[in-house]
Amino acid sequence: MKMTVVGNWKMNLAQNSARELVRSLAQAGVKSDNAVDVIVCPPYTLLGTVADLQIEGIAIGAQNCHHAAKGAFTGEISAEMLVEIGCRYVILGHSERRRDQHEDNELIGRKAHHALQSGLRPIICIGETLEQRKNGETFSVIKDQLDKIITSATAECVSSCIVAYEPIWAIGTGLAASAEQAEEVHVCIREHLKACAVADLVPLLYGGSVTADNAAALFACRNIDGALVGGASLKVDEFSSIVQAAREVVH
Ligand code: PGA
Repeated sequence: MKMTVVGNWKMNLAQNSARELVRSLAQAGVKSDNAVDVIVCPPYTLLGTVADLQIEGIAIGAQNCHHAAKGAFTGEISAEMLVEIGCRYVILGHSERRRDQHEDNELIGRKAHHALQSGLRPIICIGETLEQRKNGETFSVIKDQLDKIITSATAECVSSCIVAYEPIWAIGTGLAASAEQAEEVHVCIREHLKACAVADLVPLLYGGSVTADNAAALFACRNIDGALVGGASLKVDEFSSIVQAAREVVH
């Protein structure tokens, strides 16, 4: 399967620093090709800025969207608005939004369904807490998240999405899952999606402290089809090395 590398900028950068980062990435040769798809996900106010640069080979995604097309939803942004500004992807259900905005799987499924119908490809995040892992609940938590999202979004919708496994204990901690830990969960996700009548071709990304140092080992795993990168996506050298590592993978 083709690899996918997504940069999640979170709530970082300003107009100038965003332009500089994307231009530097392009200069460093970061772009989509036959082997890898490259996507950056700036905050809302920087989406138009990055889109206006019209950098070839770097697709743009948002970090969230609303589940309705328009209406009385103060402070919200719809998938339609994101498409209009040049987005092709949207991250949904990131653990930081589940934690801070109390988003649940049912809502994430609804968002995914609407986003896909509006022309965005959702990148749906799932993952367990450290406590759940310690209690041996990782697989059951992952399956439960998938079941609820599929029920809400439909299996057909999820077949067109990207799924990102992001163990919460690995996000922003510098403590990435080992390749073995990530791969065994990816196998579980792959099998469960199949059991739920979701297509085989859903790319499964790993996220959580991915760096230039650990990317190659993660990408060497058969069921890891790319990465959702937070902190390292703000550094040109790191992000370009991760994209290069994805390019060199032969699965
Ligand atoms: P991190 O974040 O790479 O900084 O751990 C990943 C994410 O939250 O998507």
